[in-house]
Amino acid sequence: MDQPSSSPSRRVVIALSSSAAAVAALAACTPTGSGESSAAGTPGAGGSDPAAGTGSSAGSARGPSLAKTADVPVGSSKLVGTGNAQVLLSHPAEATFRAFSPSCTHQGCTVEVRSDMFVCPCHGSEFALADGAVLQGPATRPLIERKVTVAGGTVYLA
Ligand code: FES
Repeated sequence: MDQPSSSPSRRVVIALSSSAAAVAALAACTPTGSGESSAAGTPGAGGSDPAAGTGSSAGSARGPSLAKTADVPVGSSKLVGTGNAQVLLSHPAEATFRAFSPSCTHQGCTVEVRSDMFVCPCHGSEFALADGAVLQGPATRPLIERKVTVAGGTVYLA
């Protein structure tokens, strides 16, 4: 029998490509930053923004800034950030900011902001602005929440 000389090298190339993709995917999913103590959305015990933004009691590790608090009025939400830091930033109550991954939990399409909910353009799933809960399928799981901190009138990804 002939040995196809190109088959082994093709397999090696495919295996290496798959491994590299898997490593990249894992790296993208791995949380960065060691301080994950910040409260999600609600500014915790203080109840309001620490005006100075320094010396707050919770972890000082902050991610990128997402928006000024004034840019997201109470009862609204907007898509902010870029790349992996892109989130749906929601302001459901006076002192509460929450953020969610914009990836639909059904099949991963990017959901869109509507006046009072998030809607997936692919198959029509709807999610609550306040907590990312499923309002209508086919998605069965809520949007994945991202932790945020609020300091000095700015919302940061934690
Ligand atoms: Fe969002 Fe299917 S991917 S509803």
